[in-house]
Amino acid sequence: MELTNDELPANGLGSRHGLWGGFGAVSSLIDAIGQPGRDSFSRGNGKTGVNSDHDVVDTGFCSLQSVGGSAETKWFSVFRGFPDCQTSISNYLCANRILKYDYTAVLQERVVHFTVAYLKLGIPPSQPRRAAMERDGFARNHEPSSKASDALMSHTRETAAMKRDPGATAHDTGWFSRLQQRFPILQKKRGKALLTFILLLPLLGLLGLLALRNRGSEVSNGGDGDSGSTAGAIADDTYFYGQSEAVYPSPTMSGTGTWTESYNKASALVQNMTIEEKVSLTTGAGANTGCAGNIPAVPRLNFTGMCLMDAGQGLRATDFVSGWPSGIHVGASWNKNLTRQRGIGMGGEFRTKGVNVALGPVVGPVGRVVRGGRNWEGFAADPYLTGALASETILGIQSVGVITSTKHFIGNEQETNRVPANGIEAVSSNIDDKTMHEVYLWPFQDAVKAGSGNIMCSYNRVNNSYGCANSKTQNGLLKTELGFQGFVVSDWGALHAGVASANAGMDMVQPNAAELWGDNLITAVKNGSVSESRLDDMVTRIVATWYQMGQDQGFPDPGVGMPQDLTKPHAIVDARNESSKQILFDGAVEGHVLVKNIRSALPLQKPKIMSLFGYSARNPDQWNYNATGGTSAWMFGGESAFLGRYITGAFDLDSLEDIPQIAPDGTIICGGGSGAVTPAFISSPFDAISSRAYEDSTALFWDFFSPEPYVNAASEACIVLVNAFASEGYDRPGTHDDFTDGLIKHVADRCNNTIVVFHNAGVRLVDQFVDHPNVTAVIFAHLPGQDSGRALAALLYGDSNPSGKLPYTVAHNESDYEALLKPSPAEGIFVKFPQSNFTEGAYIDYRHFDAKNITPRYEFGFGLSYTTFNYSSLEITKREGAGTSSYPVGDIVEGGQSDLWDVLATVTARVQNVGEVDGAEVAQLYVGIPGAPVRQLRGFDKPFINATQSTTVTFDLNRRDLSVWDVVAQKWLLQNGTYDINVGGSSRNLPLQGTLTF
Ligand code: BGC
Repeated sequence: MELTNDELPANGLGSRHGLWGGFGAVSSLIDAIGQPGRDSFSRGNGKTGVNSDHDVVDTGFCSLQSVGGSAETKWFSVFRGFPDCQTSISNYLCANRILKYDYTAVLQERVVHFTVAYLKLGIPPSQPRRAAMERDGFARNHEPSSKASDALMSHTRETAAMKRDPGATAHDTGWFSRLQQRFPILQKKRGKALLTFILLLPLLGLLGLLALRNRGSEVSNGGDGDSGSTAGAIADDTYFYGQSEAVYPSPTMSGTGTWTESYNKASALVQNMTIEEKVSLTTGAGANTGCAGNIPAVPRLNFTGMCLMDAGQGLRATDFVSGWPSGIHVGASWNKNLTRQRGIGMGGEFRTKGVNVALGPVVGPVGRVVRGGRNWEGFAADPYLTGALASETILGIQSVGVITSTKHFIGNEQETNRVPANGIEAVSSNIDDKTMHEVYLWPFQDAVKAGSGNIMCSYNRVNNSYGCANSKTQNGLLKTELGFQGFVVSDWGALHAGVASANAGMDMVQPNAAELWGDNLITAVKNGSVSESRLDDMVTRIVATWYQMGQDQGFPDPGVGMPQDLTKPHAIVDARNESSKQILFDGAVEGHVLVKNIRSALPLQKPKIMSLFGYSARNPDQWNYNATGGTSAWMFGGESAFLGRYITGAFDLDSLEDIPQIAPDGTIICGGGSGAVTPAFISSPFDAISSRAYEDSTALFWDFFSPEPYVNAASEACIVLVNAFASEGYDRPGTHDDFTDGLIKHVADRCNNTIVVFHNAGVRLVDQFVDHPNVTAVIFAHLPGQDSGRALAALLYGDSNPSGKLPYTVAHNESDYEALLKPSPAEGIFVKFPQSNFTEGAYIDYRHFDAKNITPRYEFGFGLSYTTFNYSSLEITKREGAGTSSYPVGDIVEGGQSDLWDVLATVTARVQNVGEVDGAEVAQLYVGIPGAPVRQLRGFDKPFINATQSTTVTFDLNRRDLSVWDVVAQKWLLQNGTYDINVGGSSRNLPLQGTLTF
């Protein structure tokens, strides 16, 4: 694609001309397919390496693969390798639309045939799914997308700001500006538009009222996807100018702290590079590996290049790796030490395979939106717990020389409209300055403090400026306030403007130049649109991080163990390590949370007869890299879900809105999307329970198939193993489904000892069945990774004592979550610029339930054990000599002002195991800071205590733990006043109470 210089820099690097082909970008797609002599095309999503075959139509995330037919009439199966396709029907439809709309007869025909063939190919859903559909068990409230496909205009607020005020570089810290941050309404110079809107309101009639039904201050947060009236819809993003503060220029790496040597080495190397070499280091490029992203080597300078690969719970989409527990599972373990060990073990595997950058951990989403599709990738719906476990993960992974990419920066809390498509911009997370610091930036701050070498900027917009082009978040928060020394990489395809992103602090684009970077960045540097010093800083940050992890010395070749095509002969690089086995197992065990256990249902005592039910008991029928239609399913955690073996089955055009809540075709050990994992082995619950039955001579019966199975009334126990699936690319249609609840009730009606196990990729409500007198035990088994079955069996049979606690709140009803239940839709006048207003501030999850006095079914931090713990002897001691000035005074080091981490007080308590079984207890400390939520987690510890024994738990409270963000001073403020200190076993079971005064 040719760009004229006129377009630089005003629109960024070709920002008018679409983007990476992943998101239905019409212009780039047309360019790609419009070349003479090409009857098929490939855009490549850089994820799988499966992208360049003839007859593969790839819109980036949505590939249609030829599976038969003649030359004239092709049949395609949907290689919906990436979840945008799953939800964003629009991607799929848009492929049709684009091709029909604009392209040659050959392609036009092909797509028409594809559509027909696709429907023909649709294989009936598997039995449980069909049964579920018959019972109307799948939620039908997922909004079918009807987005049109238009070329994306990637005006970012920065781009526009630079256009209007190229000299705008000041970081305005005036009080009015702060007030504007706090109350975005004050920022609007768009009186005219607002007035028009207000005047139009009465005319919007019923539809408008419907759309406005759930509005917060301006637009709804949540709602059921009814886009209502779009009269007066904003068509131009100038409306939003001023909502995200301009912070320029981009701060250069300073080389503070432990970074000095790496910084010096990197600076020296960069000095010897040509502009072209420098740009190549910042630009994702194709490579003969299975890595999601690659950076080419510069052999002349002994820079070996880089491989970047996912990462959520082990190395994805390759062989000879382990399947570690997912983020939510780690969150439920509340075990810092185990989390560190997991990081070390996982990191070792990345290293062995030649992966320089592990694309994790996830600290955003935090879990603001209960139905968020990616909540399971992160640790907890609490910034403190998330930050603490992210920190351990980073320290673990980086200790073996692998760079962590902490993601997604920032406000990436929903999948709905996560990327721009079809004329609709990505959702804007509108977050005020205080909430930003106290909730969403908090875990990133921990990550930077832990030394995370890389941060991934996110798909969404933040205060109406794209995540990767947002100067406030990248230049301001990350690189100035937190003193971040590493580099910022774009999420895959999240680059929507070149010059603007470069100047706003993004340092590397992935997976490719996206027609906005690469050569155009060279042009931009040469014509002065981007300064060479900015380019130098990008490269210095990248190379310094490479040195910082010691990757210049003896690091395996990038992608050495990551073959592009696993079906082709390749050298075996077995990344697994014998010493990780115990950690994998312990990790799987500790993320299980027992929430109900009556009549001593558990642990099992050698039952004579036991019956097993549910679709999450056995392994999926297919676990195969190259199975028909299954390639992407395996790579993206979909073998048991609707990506699974009947890959077209769930994608009948007329049923796309019925995205199932469950993975009906087998057990799940991870969710779907790039956070999935592909271990070399899975222990399913059925396998493990069968082994135990063999040892105990138990007679087993099972039916994993029938929605209303026969239940042998002589069963001493009936275990129902079910799940709640979630995936990247779409938000969950619900938090409970009738099919599963019906199955549980059916069994419970016939078996007086019914034990329910959920593999749940997020919150799963249980009120539909949990009070059934025959439901004796319930376990949230989360996503345990490869040792799922072995871990569950150990818990069921009492070899291990449950010690997990919920990292989120389970409500009685969905409505209890109020506006935080669902993602914000594109609606009303913001139909082309979806808005998600974080007006609840810090009041997410338990903070919301506490503030609104809503009783949850199971509170945050809750979990049962086979023993009982008693709390006593609370002691609160202020640290002598610790500075207690209102504001910190330290220099900015990695993580922010150095004295934020000064310990100001220590709290100790005695915990005794008063039961008869040894076990671990997660002791939790909550602080009530004046003017803040009544309690916020500020400490936890997990001692293992033998029966009858006791131990002391100690919690250090540092300055940040006790502070609130002062939007005027732009600093953490330690207030004078009384702080409530509560210690106990959950957020609502806090027997020890005291105070601390400053
Ligand atoms: C996801 C990232 C992931 C990347 C590479 C993106 O779509 O949002 O989390 O690391 O793809 O696979």
